[in-house]
Amino acid sequence: MDETEIARVGRLIKRIQRAADTLRHFPSRIRVLAHNDSDGLASGAIITKALTREGKEFQLSFHKQLTKAVLHDLTTEPNRLFLFLDFGSGMITTIQETLLARDRVPSAVGIIADHHLPQGDVYSENLIHLSPHDFDITENISGAGMTYLLARAMNPENRELAELAIIGAIGDSQMGSVGPDWTLFGLNKEILKDAVSTGKIRQDKGLRLWGRYTRPLHRALQYSVDPYIPEVSGNEDHAIAFLQEIGIDHRKPGGFRCLADLSEDEQRTLADAIIKERVTKNIDHPDHIFGDVYDLVERDEYRDANEFTTLLNACGKLGNPGLGIALCLGDPTAPPLMKKVLASYRKEIGEGIRCFYANQETLLLERDKGLYVHARDLIGEHIISNVISTVHKAGVLPEKPVFALVHAADGAIKVSARASEALVAQGLNLGKILAAAAAKAGGEGGGHRGAAGALIPIANEHMLINSIEEILMSLGGSPKPVPEPIAATPDTYDRRKQDRGEGSTPREESRPRQKVERKGLVRYFGAEDV
Ligand code: C5P
Ligand code: ZN
Repeated sequence: MDETEIARVGRLIKRIQRAADTLRHFPSRIRVLAHNDSDGLASGAIITKALTREGKEFQLSFHKQLTKAVLHDLTTEPNRLFLFLDFGSGMITTIQETLLARDRVPSAVGIIADHHLPQGDVYSENLIHLSPHDFDITENISGAGMTYLLARAMNPENRELAELAIIGAIGDSQMGSVGPDWTLFGLNKEILKDAVSTGKIRQDKGLRLWGRYTRPLHRALQYSVDPYIPEVSGNEDHAIAFLQEIGIDHRKPGGFRCLADLSEDEQRTLADAIIKERVTKNIDHPDHIFGDVYDLVERDEYRDANEFTTLLNACGKLGNPGLGIALCLGDPTAPPLMKKVLASYRKEIGEGIRCFYANQETLLLERDKGLYVHARDLIGEHIISNVISTVHKAGVLPEKPVFALVHAADGAIKVSARASEALVAQGLNLGKILAAAAAKAGGEGGGHRGAAGALIPIANEHMLINSIEEILMSLGGSPKPVPEPIAATPDTYDRRKQDRGEGSTPREESRPRQKVERKGLVRYFGAEDV
């Protein structure tokens, strides 16, 4: 390929502009469907603002997965323009067969703004598929990022929504290591420039600990798996003792201090102590504990972008996406409700993780190629992906792809699959595997290389597992030795890190990344609106 990344992005934006025109000129109600995770909710918030700005009538709903049943229900509605956000690419064929075939919904038009791996080909003139994959764009972008580009193409004023696109990207685990930095990169970084220049996000460097504003510091240290802090990670008492040893008080009147409460000096002392601990225990790159932190400037209580995405996930997963949208759009009644939502979300996930460890022996089945967690109805379908992500990241499972299966609504089984960065680096693609295996088992699946999901009829569980095993078998022998990591210099991106999360697309090391970053999105949308 001799075309540059810039030209490819340019072609994507052209297609986005066509979709934006279609939306702007559409005379009646627009039907929007979005994924119910943080990326999908951020996408929903962006489109809500953008369509409202254009004076459009629309109807928005959130779904845990875009299934045939959801699509079938759409055919009974009076709508004719269907917009799918943060899902849809895995259902290209079904969307065309169900909605866009001439005899189904007369003159229906579909627009997909997604970043998951596409399944099937676009053959209908009435479907506009907005996907970085179609243009071989290897730069990272989320569903909310795609929705943001669409909104920005509709109206330059929508630059104010870049903050939400960044929230979506972070929620989809799209930060990664670029050399010693932990940061956003690629198209996400271009969007970040809009978020910073519109004054919505302040970018800083800081310790890479979750919960700068809301989690007691000793717990932030205790729960820190990446970066790992020897003797401290995983042990609350040790975390408190560690802080005492370095002279940092973990209490404040009426409660505990969090990272944001520390003075600059104290933060430096803490960072030095963590690095020292990592050096003593021979951890690779002991100083890789810092990263970009993003402050949501206009938000009071939930200012940290990372923490904000957890709130959105909680709203989506606990069945209250409307509250998440209200929060995104700055509704002052939303933040006070968050503590309760977050507490029940944490409680459920905590119980799910405990349930896994307590029943590991009976739930976990190791087959030749994969690990299968038969959690049945012991773990809720809406939190199984968090539970399996946490268990998988803890590094306690054998080095095989893991598939968690739980009972879901309507006689279905929900599958949530994860694979390590090392397996992904060897070419494993869970999204493709689950798409094929779920189709064989009468269901639907898809996703990313390192994280994928599926829904299948409960009766076909064995068929699914056999099919997964067959596919994994056909990919060849037992996991090969882990390849050498790509050298971590500021200009190379460590691909293992990129594919760890739900929202990553791979980038090749030879691509001229810095060129794409130089001008920002102005290159594509013109400078007159800046
Ligand atoms: O549900 P879970 O979080 O385990 O799914 C992992 C990833 O796979 C998510 O990004 C989800 O959007 C994606 N997925 C998909 N198609 C499906 C099921 C899940 O793209 N049918
Ligand atoms: Zn997403």
